[in-house]
Amino acid sequence: MSSTSPIILSIESSCDDTSAAVLKGKQLLSNVTADQKVHKAYGGVVPELASRAHQQNIIPVVEQALKLANINKDAIDAVAFTCGPGLLGSLLVGTSFAKSFAMARNIPLIEVNHMRGHILAHFIEDEHHLPKPSFPFLCLTVSGGHTQIVKVSSPSEFKIIGQTIDDAAGEAFDKIAKIIGLPYPGGPLIDKNAQEGNPKRFEFTHPKVGEFDYSFSGLKTGVLYFLQKEIKNNPDFIKENLADICASVQHNIVSILIKTYKKAAKAEGITQLAIAGGVSANSGLRKALKDLEVTNGYKTFIPPFSYCTDNAAMIGIAGYYKFLENDFAPYTISPKARLTINSL
Ligand code: KG4
Ligand code: ZN
Repeated sequence: MSSTSPIILSIESSCDDTSAAVLKGKQLLSNVTADQKVHKAYGGVVPELASRAHQQNIIPVVEQALKLANINKDAIDAVAFTCGPGLLGSLLVGTSFAKSFAMARNIPLIEVNHMRGHILAHFIEDEHHLPKPSFPFLCLTVSGGHTQIVKVSSPSEFKIIGQTIDDAAGEAFDKIAKIIGLPYPGGPLIDKNAQEGNPKRFEFTHPKVGEFDYSFSGLKTGVLYFLQKEIKNNPDFIKENLADICASVQHNIVSILIKTYKKAAKAEGITQLAIAGGVSANSGLRKALKDLEVTNGYKTFIPPFSYCTDNAAMIGIAGYYKFLENDFAPYTISPKARLTINSL
């Protein structure tokens, strides 16, 4: 083993994706994810079904990741796993697997904070060869469970500058999609339908919150009341205006996200702006961030699609930085459903 290029097997199982990856140093060798179709029928993730599906998926997913990386089990130097935040039953499957694997092979175990993983995914080396941010930079992490602006001073120093006081941006996308009649997860479907729509056709209000904070629960209610009113006059209103509704909702969420992010960047005096998390796959958000390079002279960092939604590659890179610090976990460790980005 080279101490600066360890081979790390990483496991992610915090919500409804079972994922395993292999990295050699920062270099990604494989990243395999099994999503769980079982939740579609329920309009959201059902925790008990998620843990059962993780149990079914974990071994095949790890085997596939090792095979694609062309790595033998004996060559693995450490196992990194998501210890939180997330659904406890889901986290337990990945944690138990990682603990057993590390214990059986007598190799170090590394616990990784899922939210740090989303951000550190920007440092993965792969076929995209994208420029990397330098420290300090800001990251807007937008997922189904979180919306936060984080100042990243090093791979182990994270400070929350602002965050949502209620729903996360991904949750807003998914809940509004449900109101419109789109299946779960609705975020990508709003994005898809928005492509053909007019983003200025319908206007929704912006929330009033603390300077660097977000709020999305009012938007959800606003869209619901607006649609109820329109449907009274025209029962086919949603069907006939789907693209414009999706484009207008997306435009509203993206402009709220960007407006506050710009304010935070100005206040912190930081010009390197990254995005991370599932909603960073949104085409409107990616374009709006990129536009800031021209309008404000910021340098922006947008992850490849494969690292936006939950994946084990991001857990592997976060584990790599902890490996360099000899920051290992005991084999007796338990997952933590609630965990802030400052605490691990
Ligand atoms: O990071 P992630 O995979 O899981 C959490 O940690 O929450 O994020 C999932 C969220 C879901 O709410 C999903 O609807 C949203 O990311 N999402 C999108 C898009 N792709 C995924 N939202 C808007 N537009 C997209 N293209
Ligand atoms: Zn996530």
